Amino acid sequence: MSSAEEAAGDPAARIELLRREIHSHNHAYFVEDAPAVSDEAYDELLRELRDLEAKHPELITADSPTQRVGGAPQEGFAAARHAQPMLSLDSSPREADLRAFDARLRRAAAAAGVDVEYSLEPKIDGLSVELVYGDGVLERAVTRGDGVTGEIITTGARTIRGVPLRLKDDAPVPVPATLAVRGEIYLPIEAFDDVNADLIKQGKAPFANPRNAAAGTVRQLDARLTASRPLRIFCYDVLDGGDNFTTQHALLDGLAAWGFPVNPLNARATTVDEAHSYFTDIEAGRDELPYEIDGVVIKLQDIASRDAIGTTSHHPRWAYALKFQPRKEISQVLKIVASVGRTGVVTPIALLRPVNIGGVTVSRANLHNVDDIERKDIREGDHVRVERAGDVIPQVVERVVQEGDDGARGEPFRMPRECPSCGTPLDRSGPYTICPNSLECPAQLVGRLTHFGSRGGLDIEGLGERTARQLVETGLVRTVPQLFDLTVGDVRKLEGFAERSAGKLVEAIQAARTSELARVLYGLGIPEVGSAVARTLARNFGTIESVRAASVDDLLSVDGIGQVMAEQINGYFTAPHNVEALDELLAPTRLVPRPEEASAGTTNGRDALSGQTFVFTGALERLSREEAAELVRTLGGKASGSVSAKTSWLVAGEGGGSKLSKAQDLGVRVLDEAGFVALLAGLGVEVAEPQSAA
Ligand code: IVH
Repeated sequence: MSSAEEAAGDPAARIELLRREIHSHNHAYFVEDAPAVSDEAYDELLRELRDLEAKHPELITADSPTQRVGGAPQEGFAAARHAQPMLSLDSSPREADLRAFDARLRRAAAAAGVDVEYSLEPKIDGLSVELVYGDGVLERAVTRGDGVTGEIITTGARTIRGVPLRLKDDAPVPVPATLAVRGEIYLPIEAFDDVNADLIKQGKAPFANPRNAAAGTVRQLDARLTASRPLRIFCYDVLDGGDNFTTQHALLDGLAAWGFPVNPLNARATTVDEAHSYFTDIEAGRDELPYEIDGVVIKLQDIASRDAIGTTSHHPRWAYALKFQPRKEISQVLKIVASVGRTGVVTPIALLRPVNIGGVTVSRANLHNVDDIERKDIREGDHVRVERAGDVIPQVVERVVQEGDDGARGEPFRMPRECPSCGTPLDRSGPYTICPNSLECPAQLVGRLTHFGSRGGLDIEGLGERTARQLVETGLVRTVPQLFDLTVGDVRKLEGFAERSAGKLVEAIQAARTSELARVLYGLGIPEVGSAVARTLARNFGTIESVRAASVDDLLSVDGIGQVMAEQINGYFTAPHNVEALDELLAPTRLVPRPEEASAGTTNGRDALSGQTFVFTGALERLSREEAAELVRTLGGKASGSVSAKTSWLVAGEGGGSKLSKAQDLGVRVLDEAGFVALLAGLGVEVAEPQSAA
């Protein structure tokens, strides 16, 4: 008999085994911020223990993990008791469980003579904190810890944007002498990506999700590190000093009036149907939020009646969390390949048996670096848990041993010695493996093009990785600037493209010619420049020319840009091959970034076409040649009757003969009517659809 079977037959032994295992996971999770198993695996253990204890109540002991709410305080932080226990919520992903909660609550409310109204709130996936104020001044911040006692993290909490250090004293409800507020600290998804990119750069293990990253950050003894990661907070409860509030919404309004960040999506409902449709709406908008949520919380509005309804040892009976389906699934690693990214860094990628994770089919996941693969011990053929957080690329979180796995495993992954794309010997001297052939390596160009057209970049619909690869492999695009020279005829040559789809892509590329400066700066893939830094640069320098001309000192004078960043940015713009590539890219016929001031308003600068000369030939359908010329002039451009070397664009309609061939001889860019219309659309000018010919 195996030890597991033995334990199954002997509940006391099994309980003991489960407790020891859970304790050690608690330590890893709460104390070391390095979970050894996934939340699901942990929950399963806890559920089994709870079930066994329910069947054998005589075996319950005070130190069983079921009798606590969380983990022990970490050494290095002083402990503090909470004003009142910080309970957690009963939760489930099933609608039926929400309805059962509603029915229970209505029975209890009827018995107590209370009307049921609900407060509905997104459930922020962060970590709970208590903020204690004396006479309106922040005195102490304490993590949830085991629910009764937590760790004092005041120094770190002071660095969190949104945590008020002093409360507003002009609110309708006066600030009580002692106030304890509960909120959720979280790390926005964009910052999470940045933090992970940094960790990976240092050869360290990335965080599995934004919640772990927030927890790991807040419980840093070094507050400078906490400050360098832009944590945020939403507040939703008063643990002490809330006596003046009679409803949850009055409380939320009161918190906002005192200066606490309160989630803008909070709502109210009277029926469970309304509560459920709130859940559906919030879930539909989940991916658009800049932070992670893992469900919605539904709470009884009336605060006074909560006492009558009561709590269990873990959770209130007057609140419930309806959770989203977890964005984690188990899949199998079919193959591990080395993939070369736009910066030349070679990353191991797991090709997975396709699996649907929260509505998205995932067939690739990032394995980050060789150390990380070794740490997680992942090989081809293994079953693995894959997690997707927000917009983030799916990650392999851990290996899971499944029933039927026979113990035979693949070979450990080895990095190749030569670039899988261009064959150049890889540089393995630093923390990463790098392909040094940055100018010619096709894989790096594919990466640069994809990033350039990505959502945060020029947002060129249809220019995904697949298309970028086709463009590079066919030789149609050998540098990023050449993207703007593509014609419908070129794109049609690619497999899978027809006249319409090719037209759409070319139109999207032309429409992106006048993208906002911040998008252009992000899309270039300058080291250290994520979308937040790109926005800062755009706001401070206004035009691409000023950013290019900025010295290290000019950059340093901008709030939020430090020495390393300033040097990287300046280094990028002064490297000779970048100067040349940017000059090509920023030719008037290619990319003309919209200056920052102009992008703030709804209409665009009147000088958007200044310095550009247009010639029209052939018949246009949507507008006459004269109307087209007039439009160009109102946008600051010139319209001319004949093609010369100075012509920026020839717009050719049906039957444009000699001018078209002359333009082609002179290398003047040619647009068809659709391209011209798209160009105008990019400048905020709409041209009406042609009248139906019928
Ligand atoms: S109410 C008694 N409201 O979710 C009240 N919790 O397991 C209990 N959370 O530990 C909490 N957003 O850390 C509440 N709007 C919200 C919340 C929220 C996130 C967290 C909180 C709690 C966990 C529930």
